[in-house]
Amino acid sequence: MFRAGRACLAFPGIIGRMTTTATSAPELADAIRSLDLPAARARYLAQDEFLFLPRFLAGPLVDRMLTEVDRVRPLIHRNYIPRHKKGGSVSYYALTEHAPEIVSLYRSPATLQFVRDLVGAAVVPCPDRDPHSCALYFYTEPGDHIGFHFDTSYYKGSRYTVLVGLIERSSSRLVCQLYKDDPRGRPVVERRLATHPGTLVAFNGDKLWHAITPLGDNEERVSLTLEYVTDPSMHPLKRLFSNLKDSFAYFGVKTVFTGRPGAVRR
Ligand SMILES: [Fe+2]
Repeated sequence: MFRAGRACLAFPGIIGRMTTTATSAPELADAIRSLDLPAARARYLAQDEFLFLPRFLAGPLVDRMLTEVDRVRPLIHRNYIPRHKKGGSVSYYALTEHAPEIVSLYRSPATLQFVRDLVGAAVVPCPDRDPHSCALYFYTEPGDHIGFHFDTSYYKGSRYTVLVGLIERSSSRLVCQLYKDDPRGRPVVERRLATHPGTLVAFNGDKLWHAITPLGDNEERVSLTLEYVTDPSMHPLKRLFSNLKDSFAYFGVKTVFTGRPGAVRR
């Protein structure tokens, strides 16, 4: 059985340099405590840095995050890229202003330690100027989807995605292809996953080839992603490219280049 106190010794020193004052929710600590972390890490590695934990965060914590999901709905920015993507997003900038529970989960020392121990790297949250750091993705209209892609790291180090399912009233599925372009020649394994509330999916963004299948009529799917990196620095040209991509594919030019999410209409 994994014990949080022991795991905190895995990457000593880094946790003390965090500037966050967030405290982890008791539900998060309970979820981590109830997980057999060595077994979870072994599964993560065997699946080429991918792990699926259904309903990991089920309970009141999810309900509090759902309250914040409803609060930021007026800030959803929708995009359509023919043959690749259609859907809505709410940036880290908006969540910082209007969703303290979600941002606390992202910046919680307990979450960070859990991710470090799972992936086996001294990751840190993305810089505050990254609108993808912690963001919500809304699939609310028929046909909303995203095509196959990697969560490519433009940072100097690796980038890990932790996806948390929040609303799953859909026939849409997270389709994951493990071992894509595997240097060891392992055949591709496809997983088609429903991300029910509280479900957690963790993966190395440069390794997992994944997509969201199109939403049906009268359906809804909302997920949260938390991004962590081993090195938060980025070459200025890659930062520019990343900002342009985020402007047109996700959050809009104004949000990305001014860092202003806009005000929630009451
Ligand atoms: Fe992705």
